[in-house]
Amino acid sequence: MEILRTAGEFRAWSRKTRLAGQRHGFVPTMGALHEGHASLLREAKRRADVVSLSIYVNPTQFGPSEDFQKYPRTWEADVATAEREGVDAIFAPQTLYTPDSITQVVLPGWNAVLEGEIRPGHFDGVATVVAKLFHIAECDLAVFGQKDAQQALLVRRMIRDLDLPVDLVVAPTIREEDGLAMSSRNRYLSSEDRSRSVVLSRALGASVDAWKGGETSPEKILAAGWRVLGGTPPDSVDYFTLLDPDSLAVLDARATLEGPAILVVAARYGSTRLLDNAVLGNVWA
Ligand code: PAJ
Repeated sequence: MEILRTAGEFRAWSRKTRLAGQRHGFVPTMGALHEGHASLLREAKRRADVVSLSIYVNPTQFGPSEDFQKYPRTWEADVATAEREGVDAIFAPQTLYTPDSITQVVLPGWNAVLEGEIRPGHFDGVATVVAKLFHIAECDLAVFGQKDAQQALLVRRMIRDLDLPVDLVVAPTIREEDGLAMSSRNRYLSSEDRSRSVVLSRALGASVDAWKGGETSPEKILAAGWRVLGGTPPDSVDYFTLLDPDSLAVLDARATLEGPAILVVAARYGSTRLLDNAVLGNVWA
């Protein structure tokens, strides 16, 4: 497994493998790898001949009061995970920005919905770094997790709007045994909050069951989930709502569900925010 530290090294590695006729699958991450990331690596391996992984805690997607400094950095364990999953190259740059870089990729409107509204500038940082990573990686395909559904939708739209030559694969959310979606931030939860947090996946499940039972009213689908959330309420709920995956509009509760939708939840336990979601219908087709 190669460890590449500069954009030039990574691009040269990618060009060499592709010239040899190999299909290059790429998995961008911020490290602190867990089973969710490992599942993306396995998905990339199934679909490509060589797999690369980037590990870079991207400062531009963190707000001034967010956890950039204390974001977990677990380099040695990450390398061991990559070895175990048969990764061919890790791209771990010191930085991806020159001090005076000013160019950004912005999806106006889309950067201010739900997560984007709560974390102003977050999706500008994500879109910019993902565009940069794609340009450096020159990969054939990239695997993202449904866990960050808004991020995956944004990347899908950016690829389309900018004609980026990358096939996007969105892989399912990997969960702990009790249903909590795996996340690098779960380690911040106290043991009491960790037990309470199982309510998020259960609430999503209750809404999905209502939908599977034929319910097409967003209001009623959401009410089924709220009833469960109310049983073990998080410290606060930033949102629990339905998104249209094509327009990124929050669905009107009184409309009728016609096409696929994504049920998204964000909740706080102390200073830790947890995100989860479930798809209703074939969102990633
Ligand atoms: P990070 O949070 O490290 O996540 C990297 C990838 O792992 C993302 O595509 C994310 O959706 C996926 N992932 C996280 N938890 C998962 C789980 N439980 N199951 C399946 N996949 C999961 O997302 C980022 O990094 C950054 O924003 C990045 C795209 C790297 C840009 O900086």
